[in-house]
Amino acid sequence: MLYKLAPSILSANFSRLEEEVKKVERKADYLHIDVMDGHFVPNLTIGPPVVKALRKVTDLFFDVHLMVTNPEGLINAFADAGADLICVHAESTFHLHRLIQSIKELGKKVGVALNPASPPELVLPILDEIDLVLLMSVNPGFGGQKFIQSTIAKITRLRAIIAERGLEVELEVDGGIGPQTLPGVIKAGANVFVAGSAIFGQPSPGDAITEMKNIIKREGV
Ligand code: DX5
Ligand code: ZN
Repeated sequence: MLYKLAPSILSANFSRLEEEVKKVERKADYLHIDVMDGHFVPNLTIGPPVVKALRKVTDLFFDVHLMVTNPEGLINAFADAGADLICVHAESTFHLHRLIQSIKELGKKVGVALNPASPPELVLPILDEIDLVLLMSVNPGFGGQKFIQSTIAKITRLRAIIAERGLEVELEVDGGIGPQTLPGVIKAGANVFVAGSAIFGQPSPGDAITEMKNIIKREGV
């Protein structure tokens, strides 16, 4: 399987974002950018101007995770700012199918995210329309939370369905991922791993990535 690491800049030093990105640029596969609006989740983070500024300093693939209400009103701005993949929460829209088509029309890859309490069935009708499913393994809003164990069963189930249907959908897991939890999510079938505090919260983010990549080499299939 092709495995990918996606450092989340939520745990980076926001006063030195360019420097922080440079620390992971050569080793990361995606740069995970957490967008929070203070409504869908109880926190506020990054908007299109910051994504646009980062776009000028790196060629890393931007995996933009929208944790917002009314994502329909924001996808244009994030596409223009330089997102490569736009991931929307299934819980944040009444018209998921339409929203997916709109993101595709902007020429971007599409992800659909599920909160810990949402069943995997929510994405089954649109699974062959999208590039990635993002399973939240913490309640979205903050970095540094504890991994929720029931995510493992959801990963296992979705990986089986993806394989059965012969799809190439990526299965990304986000929240509480680090050297301790990585083996379990690899075994369950995730192939993209978001990590904030386990990478940017460490003295050397580059070394933290190397350690996680070694675990992937050892545990992956
Ligand atoms: C949480 C965000 C995550 C966050 C993960 O709402 O979606 O991407 O950065 O942080 P860690 O890896 O510290 O749990
Ligand atoms: Zn995220």
